[in-house]
Amino acid sequence: MRLAVTTPFEPSPAVLERAQAAAARRALPFHRRATRSLAEVAGDAGADALLVLGAHASLWFDGSEQRWHPGMGGLRAKRLAQGERTTVDSFLEAARLAPGDAVLDCTLGLGADALVAATAVGAGGRVVGLESSPALAAWAGEGFARLPGEAAARVEVVAADHATWLAAAPDRSFDVVVFDPMFRHGRAAAPEFDLLRRLGDARPLSREALDRARRVARRGVLVKDGTPGWDLGRLGIAPMDGRRGAQRLYAWLDAD
Ligand SMILES: C[S@@+](CC[C@H](N)C(=O)[O-])C[C@H]1O[C@@H](n2cnc3c(N)ncnc32)[C@H](O)[C@@H]1O
Repeated sequence: MRLAVTTPFEPSPAVLERAQAAAARRALPFHRRATRSLAEVAGDAGADALLVLGAHASLWFDGSEQRWHPGMGGLRAKRLAQGERTTVDSFLEAARLAPGDAVLDCTLGLGADALVAATAVGAGGRVVGLESSPALAAWAGEGFARLPGEAAARVEVVAADHATWLAAAPDRSFDVVVFDPMFRHGRAAAPEFDLLRRLGDARPLSREALDRARRVARRGVLVKDGTPGWDLGRLGIAPMDGRRGAQRLYAWLDAD
């Protein structure tokens, strides 16, 4: 996947400078937009995808442009920040995060769970999100950088394969480690997740990564799966009791 950076039409000097700085930091080529369509920019740049950086971070791929947003994560984080207790967040319920926790999200995706975790752990906490798709990691990283709020600023996005990253991570360096791998079965993805589905790393969660995560965790490892829990079954781990009709299952493994 060849990725390049550009801007919306007629960027202000500040927007242009910020986009160029992001491209340099990510070692990606920068191409001025001028009056060209994104298809023309991509064609001239020889790129498969474009990160379009303005007030928002958009990704152009295969003829369509999509603005980054953390899915339902925005609403879930808002409910949490406002202390709303009537809606249960099944991820938070399963992860039992506390203020000050350090959380490692090994499957960042568009970052919905990471934003919720960053809200739950508060100013004294830390959230690192690993994403192995370079395009998704760059898109989410630039998206978080443009999302207002201190929780968004707390999410550190790292472009890395989690099995490799975990191998080098110190023992017991995060309170909770989270995995939410791509589902290879079940429900069709909602249209807004089309790019995630197409660009995401669909490799199944490995036993090796899980074992490494248990070493890196202080309290434990949370694994999410879609019903009926085929991946959990493949890994030989039992789901926690879920709510009736839930489309997501969670399993908890204590740290080593
Ligand atoms: C289902 S999505 C995660 C959604 C995320 N929990 C959220 O709330 O938006 C799974 C993501 O994990 C990434 N992924 C899969 N295998 C990975 C690996 N070995 N290392 C890092 N990221 C991986 C995929 O590219 C995809 O973006």
